[in-house]
Amino acid sequence: MPHLRPRRARRTPAIRELLTQTRLHPRDLVLPVFVKEGLQEPAEIRSMPGVYQHTIASVRDLTEQARDAGLGGIMVFAVPQSRDALGSGATDPDGFFAAAIRAVAQAAEGALVVMSDICLDEFTDHGHCGVLRPDGTIDNDATIDRYAQMAVIHADAGADVVGLSGMMDGQTAEVRAALDDAGLIDTLILSYTAKYASAFYGPFRDAVESTLEGDRRTYQMDPANRREALRALDIEEASGADIVMVKPAGSYLDVLADLAAASSVPVAAYQVSGEYAMIEAASANGWIDRERVIVESLIAIRRAGADVILTYYALEAAAWLAGSRRDALPVNPPVASGSAGRVADAGAGSGRLDEFPAGPIPRADEVGR
Ligand code: PBG
Repeated sequence: MPHLRPRRARRTPAIRELLTQTRLHPRDLVLPVFVKEGLQEPAEIRSMPGVYQHTIASVRDLTEQARDAGLGGIMVFAVPQSRDALGSGATDPDGFFAAAIRAVAQAAEGALVVMSDICLDEFTDHGHCGVLRPDGTIDNDATIDRYAQMAVIHADAGADVVGLSGMMDGQTAEVRAALDDAGLIDTLILSYTAKYASAFYGPFRDAVESTLEGDRRTYQMDPANRREALRALDIEEASGADIVMVKPAGSYLDVLADLAAASSVPVAAYQVSGEYAMIEAASANGWIDRERVIVESLIAIRRAGADVILTYYALEAAAWLAGSRRDALPVNPPVASGSAGRVADAGAGSGRLDEFPAGPIPRADEVGR
């Protein structure tokens, strides 16, 4: 007869819930949103069913939903109407991106952390994250000057956090100095510290209508490399990063665990568009249990060490988390099955949280973790 019986601790939902090591909370989640210039109606992204390009008006609604759902934050990406070699639109203080950030910041009412993407790829006609030299290579140092201008504009427009996703050398130090010079000492920097040259970004490029030909392998990291992420962490910490990030998340949990163990600042992870698209595609075919796979994927990212998760599922997951025990989810999901409760179906492109039978969401400081 066995005398060590670990199954004892798995016997009932109550025991499992008490002894679980990793919990998800809406405040850990950040919703990435796409706002497109000149759009009249929210437009669903072909390769990201349920995720929309938004108008300024619909992103305002979505921000209110995110705020009311008790999310931690929202990350704004802009899709401009015109592009050029320098990505000029990115540094127009009266431009569309600044207007979108202002709208989101206003609707967030201080209850959501407002983040914005600092990168040129949506604004350049060649689709690269930086400006190019005549020979077609990236001009690193000219690029980070442009990021610095962009960051000041975003912070002025109301971004609490600027997300540096361009993977240029020296970007964090350069942006920190520019923010400080402008008196924007309280703006945080989220550094995409270990951002890999990943095929999992495919659907995002639909979302921002990317014009990129070729790839980003001279600036984003080689997916085969693990050690390099720790060097990047050293550099980013020394340069003043307030939050460091690993991206993508699901296929890079080892890197995330390394960073979480070594970092002296909070660690974020980005469950990217391709991770979302794969879950949606398999679910649509009835091949996996959508809700359970989503929750499991997010729990795994937390377990590996992420304090903060950027995910297109943020609103939907928050609604589930508010309603029930994790264990009860697969059996009795509080969200109607199929797509009824999805952000997808919110006619105006916003999450229909009013349809979720979820109660008020306790704040982290009320319930602890
Ligand atoms: C660059 C950027 C990308 C993503 C976020 N910021 C695309 C890229 O580097 O090619 C990808 C996010 C996702 O796939 O969900 N501005």
